[in-house]
Amino acid sequence: MEKKVNEWIPEEQTEYISLLGDILSERYHTDHPKAFVHTYGCQQNVADSEKIKGMLIEMGCELTEDKEEADIILFNTCAVREHAEDRVFGNVGALKTLKRQKPSLLIALCGCMMEQEHIAEKIYKSYPYVGLVFGTHVIHRFPELLFHAVTTGKRTVERGTDDGKLYEGIPIHRDGSFKGWLPVMYGCDNFCTYCIVPYVRGRERSRESAVILTEAKGMVQSGYKEITLLGQNVNSYGKGLSENIRFPQLLKSVADIEGDFWVSFMTSHPKDASKELIDVIAENPKISRHLHLPFQCGSDRLLKKMNRHYTVEKYMDIVNYAKERIPDLALTSDVIVGFPGETEEDFQQTLDLIRTVEFTSLFTFIYSPRVGTPAASFEDPYTHEDKARRMGELLKLQEQISAKRTAAMVGKVCRVLVEEQAREGVLNARTQGGVVVEVAGTPDLIGTFRYAKITEARNFILRGELDGVTE
Ligand code: SAH
Ligand code: SF4
Ligand code: F3S
Repeated sequence: MEKKVNEWIPEEQTEYISLLGDILSERYHTDHPKAFVHTYGCQQNVADSEKIKGMLIEMGCELTEDKEEADIILFNTCAVREHAEDRVFGNVGALKTLKRQKPSLLIALCGCMMEQEHIAEKIYKSYPYVGLVFGTHVIHRFPELLFHAVTTGKRTVERGTDDGKLYEGIPIHRDGSFKGWLPVMYGCDNFCTYCIVPYVRGRERSRESAVILTEAKGMVQSGYKEITLLGQNVNSYGKGLSENIRFPQLLKSVADIEGDFWVSFMTSHPKDASKELIDVIAENPKISRHLHLPFQCGSDRLLKKMNRHYTVEKYMDIVNYAKERIPDLALTSDVIVGFPGETEEDFQQTLDLIRTVEFTSLFTFIYSPRVGTPAASFEDPYTHEDKARRMGELLKLQEQISAKRTAAMVGKVCRVLVEEQAREGVLNARTQGGVVVEVAGTPDLIGTFRYAKITEARNFILRGELDGVTE
């Protein structure tokens, strides 16, 4: 019999949500207790936090940006690099005084860090004022866990083992009103040797396409102008589903929904990025002219040690095809500097790749050893200073490329989505390739599509003029 992966949120969780309405009101002497939710890490975590916020709101809570006035403080944590973890420890440490002043304050930690044994232990031992800890696999049981923490007054720790399922029907409170995240799959099966994600997020599982399309339609109907399909490796979407569907078809179906909106996606693993995917982007103007295709490193020797399953040649094949099919494509990437044993020659190959591709922008990381990953025990004769110097060199090169690319946009007219106020009288708008353009305008334009003529590129910031075309 086929294993059922996609399940509906168990009914008892909905019951806990309604029970918590009264329990929290009584505990905090208000109909609307205040919850502060802060998210570290990637968009997957942002999307998870939107569910946690959705559940809190159903319990009657009000969200606040101010920790001082909060009754519940929740940090959704990230484990991808040491720096991310250090920030969480620092910020949890800083809550000690607040908890002393307000004993009824409930401090909760969840997310990727909590799925690591040694971290959960450290929290338990060194931060006794943290009342609730739960991992990524049990988010759907948040109501039950919160209920346990507040009714027993006992510290509650639940780190799920991955049950291989995904739960639909959890309420969502989206942070944005015109740009929204839409997870299409969870987990990762790739086990790149440096990466903690597969250990803390579990095995890959895809949502059924009908559920995704219904959610996307709902978003379009409620005025969303940009929908970003999310997954650690969206290109392997569909594996394990009983329906026969792959990511390019899903992407096209979302783009086919009636309405004026853009659809984007992240992240694409180069080993699974197909020409079919590029064709779908090329042929559908609603799909963003942006491909985030992390290459990580320009040395085949290291790509092998990273377990990435592609070579520079294969990466360039897909990049060249994409550039040819989509001339206005913005390519971005992640790159790791200082992977264990990275020689000067390996590093120069990374620079060569950057020079050849000319990325619009890069997300750059110095390698950070993660407990339990294979690369953490690889030999590494290079010092942090060596790595920092290489990083400096890489950033300088990318700065030149970005400057050249932004300069080349001057004079063009682009359709942009107006996103936010940068300062009095100035708005930030974004092109379909994800490039920010500053334009003069008033906040009522936020959340609308406009056309902007790019007039100037200075210090990597593009300036433009709205051409008066209203849509
Ligand atoms: N699933 C995505 C990436 C998720 S993690 C993908 O494969 O593209 C985001 C980025 O963090 C990775 O692309 C990688 O560049 C970086 N990263 C992951 N683990 C790291 C580590 N241990 N040290 C430094 N950077 C790391
Ligand atoms: Fe990590 Fe690799 Fe999975 Fe991305 S594909 S989340 S880098 S293991
Ligand atoms: Fe961090 Fe977890 Fe995302 S480790 S990068 S928040 S999947």
